[in-house]
Amino acid sequence: MAERDNDSQPTASCVRLTGCVALVTGSTGGIGTEIVRRLAAEGAQVVATDLDAAPCAQLVGELPGEHLVLALDVGDEDAWRAAVERVRAEFGRLDVLVNNAGIGSLGTVEDETRERWDAVVAVDQLGTWLGMKHGGPLIEQSGGGSIVNVCSILGTVGGLGNSLAYAAAKGAVRTMTKNAALHWAARGVRVNSLHPGFIGTRQLLERFGGTPRHDAMLEGTPMARLGRPEEVAAAVAFLASGDAAFVTGSELYVDGGWTAR
Ligand code: NAI
Repeated sequence: MAERDNDSQPTASCVRLTGCVALVTGSTGGIGTEIVRRLAAEGAQVVATDLDAAPCAQLVGELPGEHLVLALDVGDEDAWRAAVERVRAEFGRLDVLVNNAGIGSLGTVEDETRERWDAVVAVDQLGTWLGMKHGGPLIEQSGGGSIVNVCSILGTVGGLGNSLAYAAAKGAVRTMTKNAALHWAARGVRVNSLHPGFIGTRQLLERFGGTPRHDAMLEGTPMARLGRPEEVAAAVAFLASGDAAFVTGSELYVDGGWTAR
């Protein structure tokens, strides 16, 4: 099925995060790269983290402004402690945390393996909790700010009937987000989940382009195209910014209408 080009072009970004420090996990993936670029364009000093710091350094090296890069495995609690302490030492504050790192699995309820389940849950679910646990207090101490948990439409609906472990982990991200939002609601820390539909990252297109799965992604998307990483990044920037000052515990779908059916 061919993609329809029925999108509107992104509008010019406005600078809403000047003076803010924003930590992003999974920074060098298809979506993370655009989140880092957008938050920097909005004026933030970005702490770009991923399993390997070298590609993070290459990414922020292309951006104006002063940024920090760190190796951070989101499933490692000691690594989170060290990362947050480093941010405190370098900047003295944290305003925005984007829990973006994630891994997938295509296994179904019948054929998923225990090993793959554990791996997916360790990154997508545990990693998001640990990020909130260690990043949230520094955000509160900084006078408040925003946590954006990058979830998925599969945190809410059944999708294509596979990716069982991923759906389990993302469903947990969705409800953990609301739980954490209530915990911090009166203390200045907003927490929201962001639910991309199928996004045509380079990695996704290399893996699935031209396959029946690619067709199924397009057919299930009312806008008849895949999303762009920049479109996810724009929604992250909104939730991170003061424009979303009264938004907490909510779910923002960037899915071309997938969940509207
Ligand atoms: P990607 O595979 O391109 O990037 C994921 C990044 O996470 C990579 O840079 C990887 O190194 C990093 N990562 C993996 N394990 C990690 C760990 N233990 N600690 C720290 N970093 C780790 O994936 P993509 O597409 O950019 O996805 C980003 C987020 O968006 C994920 O949470 C994903 O579940 C979510 N998402 C993506 C969709 C898509 O269509 N691409 C759709 C819905 C949600």
